[in-house]
Amino acid sequence: MSAGLLRAMTLAVVGLSLFVAGCERPPPETVQRGYRGLGMVEVFNPRTVAAQVEANQVPAPLPAASPGGPAASAVFKNVKVLNDLSVGELTRTMAAMTAWVAPEQGCAYCHAPGEDLSSDSLYAKVVARRMLEMTRHINSTWKDHVATTGVTCYTCHRGKPVPSDIWFENPGPSTAQGVAGNRAGQNFPAPQVGLASLPYDPFTPFLDQKSEIRVVSTAALPGDNHHSIKQTEWTYALMIHISQSLGVNCTYCHNSRSFVSWDASTPQRATAWYAIRTVRNLNDEFMNPLASTLPASRRGPLGDGPKINFGTCHQGVYKPLFGAKMLADYPELSGVVIKAAVEPAPVAALPAGVLARILFETGKTDLGPESMQAIATAAKALQENAALKVDLSGYADRTGNPAANLELAKQRAFAVRDALKAAGVADVRIVLKKPEFVIGGADAEARRVDLVAAN
Ligand code: HEC
Ligand code: HEC
Ligand code: HEC
Repeated sequence: MSAGLLRAMTLAVVGLSLFVAGCERPPPETVQRGYRGLGMVEVFNPRTVAAQVEANQVPAPLPAASPGGPAASAVFKNVKVLNDLSVGELTRTMAAMTAWVAPEQGCAYCHAPGEDLSSDSLYAKVVARRMLEMTRHINSTWKDHVATTGVTCYTCHRGKPVPSDIWFENPGPSTAQGVAGNRAGQNFPAPQVGLASLPYDPFTPFLDQKSEIRVVSTAALPGDNHHSIKQTEWTYALMIHISQSLGVNCTYCHNSRSFVSWDASTPQRATAWYAIRTVRNLNDEFMNPLASTLPASRRGPLGDGPKINFGTCHQGVYKPLFGAKMLADYPELSGVVIKAAVEPAPVAALPAGVLARILFETGKTDLGPESMQAIATAAKALQENAALKVDLSGYADRTGNPAANLELAKQRAFAVRDALKAAGVADVRIVLKKPEFVIGGADAEARRVDLVAAN
């Protein structure tokens, strides 16, 4: 090779690398997240990470209230949630809430000036009371997702009355009837799905309703798999939202060789699995019912209330506020919701060998916090006894459409299987049985999945 040609080639390579490196500076770095050779790497840019760290600083904790003193419930007139605190602790909590949610507006955001502090005349106070219950609920019921780090008002609000990432049902762009045609919920670049031409509202089906996210067939031949490519696009839309909100690649949770396999996934996928259930539960139990309390100006184009998604808490970071443990300084937000005493329902003894019995609402396949707890206990038993396997038997009754009932029973067994996998039980230890009919009428016991110990 002539020296001239060599020089020309070197220049070309240098030029090309300058061009490529010029796209993003300083050069992005990578962290290996799976075994070598799997390509499970996380790409990040130190410059953007530095900016994120800057934006995710937490406010310094307020000085602790002096111990003792009179109980808030004895001094104040209208304390329904924080009634287990002292006056000093309640005052400290109010100061913290003001700094986290309404620093500019101050106490007046929730307490109308001139009125007694016990008055509930402002909607913001009524909402804030429910938010106190929600925060306690997240920290006590959803430890599978938030662990002991937990959340405070600041996790979502960051010094603003309305968190920066909320969502409403999205009717999509208005199109002239018959001219632009049916967009089928997609086909224009939407920021919430990374400007891809994917469904622009993956939130309504997956984070408000409880549509099935699973799309990969469990059998080699068709028959088992009813999921179309179109449905798969909805799952991808949700996954792009999750990745964006956490600032990570798909390989943060999946080995892309098999997106479905839990054994090949990282532990973070299980945490995210609980996150999906947490968000659904919060929207269902807290946000949707609050819609009627909020003024019309706070509602969406279709009149629904604001709702939570992955971005509401994470805001672009894999752990909100890079995992700062703010809750430790505010133990009053970690408590259990104090409800009027409810008679506990009598628990029927389970037949021998049944590790857990999970009941479902009519037509539903989703698992509530109680079911999740029962499954966690069963998973623990399985972990303690390595020889044990578990048979999952789904049951249905004969009222209504029998085929649809059997399909429901099957989907319920799938939901329980996923929960077991997310709790760390290996695939090979879970055996799915054919769904069966229960003899007799339609009662709650018929809509169930039994976890039966097997060898
Ligand atoms: C984001 C809304 C919000 C802000 C801001 C706020 N509060 Fe409150 N405040 C509440 C709620 C909600 C309750 C009722 C708590 C409960 O029911 O457990 C309450 C109750 C109180 C009570 C008890 C009143 C009674 O007699 O029942 C006092 C006192 C109080 N707040 C003082 C303050 C002070 C002082 C500030 C400003 C530093 C403040 N609050 C800022 C929401 C707020
Ligand atoms: C998991 C996230 C999350 C947490 C934690 C949270 N909030 Fe909220 N909050 C929201 C969302 C979402 C809304 C709805 C936004 C809107 O009102 O448009 C909201 C609304 C509110 C509003 C009504 C604001 C308005 O003017 O519409 C108040 C007041 C409020 N929150 C106070 C609190 C307080 C106090 C805490 C802590 C005890 C808290 N929030 C914790 C997500 C959260
Ligand atoms: C933070 C973790 C996380 C990230 C990042 C993530 N996923 Fe997922 N993914 C999950 C969880 C959890 C499920 C299971 C959801 C369920 O079944 O409720 C899932 C399910 C899936 C499924 C369905 C598998 C099945 O059972 O049929 C596909 C396909 C998928 N993800 C693709 C992707 C793609 C593509 C990306 C990147 C754009 C991505 N995921 C990013 C957590 C993640």
